Amino acid sequence: MIKRLEEIKLGSEKLLNDAKSLKDIEELRIKYLGKKGELTELLKSMGALSAEERPKMGKLVNELREHLENAVSVHTERLKEAALNERILLEKIDVTMPGEKIRPLGHKHPITLVIDAIKDIFMGMGYEIAEGPDIELDYYNFEALNIPENHPAKDEQDTFYVDGGFVLRSQTSSVQVRTMETHELPIRIIAPGRVFRSDEVDATHSPVFHQLEGLVIDENITMSDLKGVLNVFAKALLGENTEVRFRPHHFQFTEPSAEMDVSCFVCGGKGCRTCKQTGWIELLGCGMVHPRVLEMSGIDPKKYSGFAFGMGLERIAMQRFNIPDLRLMYENDVRFLKQF
Ligand code: DAH
Repeated sequence: MIKRLEEIKLGSEKLLNDAKSLKDIEELRIKYLGKKGELTELLKSMGALSAEERPKMGKLVNELREHLENAVSVHTERLKEAALNERILLEKIDVTMPGEKIRPLGHKHPITLVIDAIKDIFMGMGYEIAEGPDIELDYYNFEALNIPENHPAKDEQDTFYVDGGFVLRSQTSSVQVRTMETHELPIRIIAPGRVFRSDEVDATHSPVFHQLEGLVIDENITMSDLKGVLNVFAKALLGENTEVRFRPHHFQFTEPSAEMDVSCFVCGGKGCRTCKQTGWIELLGCGMVHPRVLEMSGIDPKKYSGFAFGMGLERIAMQRFNIPDLRLMYENDVRFLKQF
């Protein structure tokens, strides 16, 4: 019986040391101290002992039981405390730690950067910013710009037609008409915005792109005003050393019309790959607003005259930021956008 007591002592000690959870401790308690526990059984079997041995043995068994009961309660307390401490540690907030940046701030798109730069230049010369809708009446996009139904000039800007006399505007020139109809004279505006044409997508074409339009209407506006303003603009945008030249051209809504080239800002005009060895890069179309266009918008062409210009913004952004493929600008890959 002494031997059995020894076994229980050793066994329970080992289990106590190995116990890692409250559940382990509870199992141990039931195993030894429960109603059918090993120690309880041992006590019960003491009837078989002699009257002499019984009190001695009883004392030993009771000592062990007390010891075990004590150990169980100490261990239980310790485990409970450890669990609590762990929870406190987990739920602790260090208010002095720097905040976590979850949403990084965005970045301006290269097209927006170009628009901002051009806006700055013209606002410095007293221009206002005008806007018009992307879904435009055929009238504003073509008709009122002296491009009547069935005119071949319409083919050059094949766009997307929407039922009810609407088109997705193929040029920001539509804003010219809207402005002339509503704005008091004199007019000095620029109008940046999205335009649409049914072009196939490739490295230099997209069915959606951006233009920036300009319009000035006042008394005594002449071609030299046009040249002066656009010369100042080109130098401000591309650098003081920039030269400009005007080539005669045709647009339905201006007369005379021209295209303006700027000296190549890569080679300075000597000739390189960017300017295809010509020393010049085409920047925009422009001209004196056609008297018929003025008239259709209710402005008296005998009293007033004006000039207009329009340019594509994608090409400027591509050249300014060295972007080799137009498509990169519409893919919205942040790794690309982050660079500007
Ligand atoms: N709207 C023309 C185009 O998309 C560009 C243009 C040319 C605009 C001459 C003008 C202008 O205002 O005067 O090709």
